Amino acid sequence: MYRNFAIVPRIIFGRGCFNQLDDILADRRTGGAMVFLVDDVFENTALMKRVPAEKGDIVMPVNVDEEPKTAYIDELVARLQQGGASTPDGVIGIGGGSTLDIAKAVSLLLTNPGSATDYQGWDLIKSPGVYKVGIPTLAGTGAEISRTTVLTGPEKKLGINSDYTLYNQIVLDPELLAGVPRDQWFYTGMDCYIHDVESLNGTYINEFSRAYGEKSLELCRQVFLEDHDDSDDKLMMASYFGGMSIAYSQVGACHALSYGLSFLLGIHHGIGCCIAFQQLDEFYHDGVAEFKEMMDRHGITLPTGVTASLSEADMEKMISVALGLAPLWENCLGPDWQRLMSRNRVRELYERM
Ligand SMILES: [Fe+2]
Repeated sequence: MYRNFAIVPRIIFGRGCFNQLDDILADRRTGGAMVFLVDDVFENTALMKRVPAEKGDIVMPVNVDEEPKTAYIDELVARLQQGGASTPDGVIGIGGGSTLDIAKAVSLLLTNPGSATDYQGWDLIKSPGVYKVGIPTLAGTGAEISRTTVLTGPEKKLGINSDYTLYNQIVLDPELLAGVPRDQWFYTGMDCYIHDVESLNGTYINEFSRAYGEKSLELCRQVFLEDHDDSDDKLMMASYFGGMSIAYSQVGACHALSYGLSFLLGIHHGIGCCIAFQQLDEFYHDGVAEFKEMMDRHGITLPTGVTASLSEADMEKMISVALGLAPLWENCLGPDWQRLMSRNRVRELYERM
């Protein structure tokens, strides 16, 4: 069975296109509020002043010091409902992958009853969310194009995967990437690079995913191994193409292991992928070598010994989280993955991190 997948229907790309947000939203205003969920690092910055909020709109800074939790989504939705914005005209997420995921989840939970935890899984959302716009200020996660919003709940880290999760509109303005801290820029960019490597080297690969993955990889190489004046433009498109590549294939071992790192240790997705990827030479030999070249070029050093302080019970839990992501391992190793990927082999990889 081939998947008949949905993609984001409206995309605007170009330097300064953020200035057109006001016009884009004007078509969607029917008297309700527009809710702008903005990464709180932008409080008191020039970008915050450029948010085209009108009277009655809500600008709500969101905190992403921790990766998004289901409880935080429930809290934001309750705040909006108590504030009389139970059916806003739109939800606009402005920030990195975590903020984009928060905005998607809030949009969905405004129209679907219950808690965000009720919808972690595949195609559990029954009603379209509120109209939503995604505006990345960091490039690499592919959250702008994905049909998921990755959330950590009390029991699991798992996305709300559905066609309704997709943004109705994305605004890709490379100017918004200026001023990102270098390490953050690198980790998030490597998330994209790793999407490409895992997609292109996976057993699920097909010509659709290869076409997007190869272009994304080419752009990543230009950004991280060469010097270009328009590298922010390139990285923004690499992120989009990388997201399109995995949308029709899958990620692999690195993402499975990084989910364990973030669930048990609270390590953010981008850096978690980097910590895991450098140990995965046996799976992605050429990719890991090139990744290390990129690290050297940008003077990046990664933390070591991150799993050393884990209790035995937590290590066991982390192994279970990683191995629970069956499609990722199947993409990496084929249908026989369970025989190839024992708990001990996962443990050995984690112990190296
Ligand atoms: Fe990722």
